[in-house]
Amino acid sequence: MENRIRIAVDGPAGAGKSTIAKEVAKELNIDYIDTGAMYRAIAVKLIRTGTDYNDAEALAKMLEVTDVDFSAGKTYLDGEDISGIIRTPEVSALASPSSAIPAIRYKLTDLQQAMGERKSVIMDGRDIGTVVFPDAEFKFYLVADPDIRAKRRTLELQEKGEAADFETVKADMMQRDLQDSTRSFRPLKKADDAIEIDTSNMSIEEVTKSLLDVIRK
Ligand code: DC
Repeated sequence: MENRIRIAVDGPAGAGKSTIAKEVAKELNIDYIDTGAMYRAIAVKLIRTGTDYNDAEALAKMLEVTDVDFSAGKTYLDGEDISGIIRTPEVSALASPSSAIPAIRYKLTDLQQAMGERKSVIMDGRDIGTVVFPDAEFKFYLVADPDIRAKRRTLELQEKGEAADFETVKADMMQRDLQDSTRSFRPLKKADDAIEIDTSNMSIEEVTKSLLDVIRK
């Protein structure tokens, strides 16, 4: 317990959060948790059950019988590994507006806090340093130029064999950033005590090293 550390990595889409967090987790031999994947899992459940997230009663009923987990790089919805379907445009488009709903954020925040209770974790998301672990030992906020973020995201999707063109990816990304940073409940925000890193002109190795240098100091 004494040596447990929590590392928060927040920032907008495409800033390199998950790539860097995974590398740091490997180096430190601790768990990596992708909280965006958990919001995406809720979006999958909303689609599958045909639930309207604005219908508070129906949403509460759905959330009561919903279990989301992220473990060893995989995303689980009610015990089923749904990792393969959480990055489709349909799920991406729904994950952002539905994540603005307080009932959904309360549920996932509880799960995320429980995940970091007994072991060391590095968690990436939008509200880890501000809400999930305001007392995290280390907080980072990654940013990058929008064109560079959109280019990275386009390449990532193309490498997975998905059809993606730069302009569409950039427009979707900007739309999500706007929604995520302007929602009234727990928006994307840099924690006052987070270290901001602009990854625009840095390699994965360079960003990873800059985090590790802070953590190991
Ligand atoms: O990190 P991502 O792009 O996979 O996240 C998908 C959506 O989930 C994102 O548009 C906003 C939301 N999200 C959030 O509100 N809070 C988090 N901690 C993580 C993601």
